Amino acid sequence: MRKSKLGLIAGGPPCTAYRIDPPKGLTVRDGQLDDLTGIIRIVNSKNNRLSFGWVQKVVLADAVKHQREEGEKSQHRLRVVTDSTGRIVAFLRAYHRNDGTTTLHEIGVAEDMQSRGIGTYLIMELIHASQKRGMLKIGLKTPVGMRSNNYYPSFGFKQVGTFNGRKRVLNCYELEL
Ligand SMILES: CC(C)(COP(=O)(O)OP(=O)(O)OC[C@H]1O[C@@H](n2cnc3c(N)ncnc32)[C@H](O)[C@@H]1OP(=O)(O)O)[C@@H](O)C(=O)NCCC(=O)NCCS
Repeated sequence: MRKSKLGLIAGGPPCTAYRIDPPKGLTVRDGQLDDLTGIIRIVNSKNNRLSFGWVQKVVLADAVKHQREEGEKSQHRLRVVTDSTGRIVAFLRAYHRNDGTTTLHEIGVAEDMQSRGIGTYLIMELIHASQKRGMLKIGLKTPVGMRSNNYYPSFGFKQVGTFNGRKRVLNCYELEL
């Protein structure tokens, strides 16, 4: 099996055997309402903007509310990474569906913090949390032609089809857990 340069097995089984350490000097925690402006800033930054669909603050706020009220049992997941000044440098939003699929809705890292393993940490954390809940797979969609299409396969995600979005075609990926 081929090991990617992230140390994960491309196309292999999910990453249960690998240790995940939080990124050095950064804090990872559940998102709060105060974090939403920082999240939207990541989404709307010049180079990131094209990768995201329409990320609504109200949807993020709903995830925060459910997660806070329902705790670990919540189907909503909004995680943020902050630096030592409290700036939001990354986020991930996902939803654990009743049919056994966890949907990864958005993941974003601030442009000046990319390629340092932060996204990898958030995805690994999601994989572990999903496995712990007994989820069967993780699904996501990402626009055709974007660089992120090279990213997900390094975690074992496989392309399972395409989806005609409102404005563009999206590739659909799944990771069996
Ligand atoms: C994709 C993304 C979440 C990865 O997080 P990250 O912390 O930068 O990535 P890691 O350090 O864990 O891994 C590095 C890999 O990320 C990918 N990557 C890095 N910057 C990226 C970018 N601007 N866009 C897409 N993928 C990127 C590359 O595959 C890179 O591997 P490489 O160095 O071999 O090229 C992050 O770069 C990002 O937010 N990109 C823009 C928004 C986006 O594409 N979101 C996903 C679709 S919703």
